[in-house]
Amino acid sequence: MNILILGSGGREHSLAWAILQNPKCDRLIVAPGNAGTGQIAENADIDILDGDAVAAFAQDNTIDLVIIGPEAPLAAGVADTLRAMGLAVFGPSAAAAQLESSKTFTKTICDAAGAPTADWKRFEDATTAKDYVTQQGAPIVIKADGLAAGKGVVVAETLAEAHAAIDDMFGGTYGAAGASVVIEECMFGQEASFFILSDGTSILPVGTAQDHKRAYDGDTGPNTGGMGAYSPAPCLTETIQKQVLDDIIQPTINEMAKRGTPFEGVLYAGLMIEDTGRARLIEYNTRFGDPECQVLMMRLGGQILDLILACAQRRLGEMTVNWANDHALTVVMAAKGYPGDYEKGTKIKGLDGLPQDSQNMTFHAGTETKDGTTIATGGRVLAVTGRGETLAEAHQRAYAATKTITWPQGFLRTDIGWRAL
Ligand code: AMP
Ligand code: GLY
Repeated sequence: MNILILGSGGREHSLAWAILQNPKCDRLIVAPGNAGTGQIAENADIDILDGDAVAAFAQDNTIDLVIIGPEAPLAAGVADTLRAMGLAVFGPSAAAAQLESSKTFTKTICDAAGAPTADWKRFEDATTAKDYVTQQGAPIVIKADGLAAGKGVVVAETLAEAHAAIDDMFGGTYGAAGASVVIEECMFGQEASFFILSDGTSILPVGTAQDHKRAYDGDTGPNTGGMGAYSPAPCLTETIQKQVLDDIIQPTINEMAKRGTPFEGVLYAGLMIEDTGRARLIEYNTRFGDPECQVLMMRLGGQILDLILACAQRRLGEMTVNWANDHALTVVMAAKGYPGDYEKGTKIKGLDGLPQDSQNMTFHAGTETKDGTTIATGGRVLAVTGRGETLAEAHQRAYAATKTITWPQGFLRTDIGWRAL
């Protein structure tokens, strides 16, 4: 079959790499892709936010399945346009993608479904919001309601910080995403991520992970899209996974179906594992995480295509995952200055000699090939990934590979996985 993946990150490179291991894949195109996807598949330069352009491209290239990687095309309704044409699509409708694009929507669904999450209230003006915060006390969590590229959340330790965050959001720092603000109870515990496929009715878990959001060692520095991740997450035990599926995920899927907006795709649940051993939902994303996808693909390999296809064809109930007893860990190499300003167009050397097999993979994110050389074009540039029977083995493989890469303008964290190791 002919498959089109939308996106250009390490997530999409890892999806492409895993899918190519499945003999069902005849032709694979990644749009717009990066240097890494260009080496193993075809890249195509199309505007992935334009549903009609993607649909026309899919028709011209007799595409059988479209996999949507990032959140922006989901929120733009690209999955709706493609489904309306009768194409098999992996990724939720714009209505179902509100589980990521609107915090109020998610909270309303959780309340209707009885899914445990932080207590919350929504505000349309700064004065009422500040009065509420003063009454509740700190710590307290302030969130821009809409999509803010993972940046619209402030965990305020003091009332002054909370008031400043409210002023910031209503002042337009996050654009339209801050037109309304959600204020939440602050939860405490260990954070972990859980990834679950759904075809609108059935659910199938495809792995757990933990990431490192801060830029520098010791979980310090500014928040980023993620500087590394590992899978599985030891704190998400079998018992807690079952509680999450029974109390949070299946009720959410049922509620979405009941409303006539079934969720079809991958649900990424950000969870807080509280000291009581119970998990509550922090938030949903409606796509794979980046770099969490890289460690999940390393563990799942070619079977991901069968699972995605079953999801798109609404027969997920027939499927199971073949788990190996393995661990994976990925280290992100980013351009110095990221997540702030950074230099573009710098040369990366030492990639050619790296092993690329079931235990070692260097996934590309912000890269391009220019005159035969790999050039860094983005903030997060490579996700150097290892797999092994233990997390320590996966860690050793990933860090060994980073040492053979020469890129003076890049940096990485040296402590990915510290919590689990
Ligand atoms: P989000 O964008 O909703 O994932 O929030 C970003 C981060 O803020 C999360 O990964 C948590 O570390 C933190 N966070 C969000 N909501 C809460 C909450 N209600 N209680 C404690 N921490 C939170
Ligand atoms: N790594 C976090 C995310 O993809 O949202």
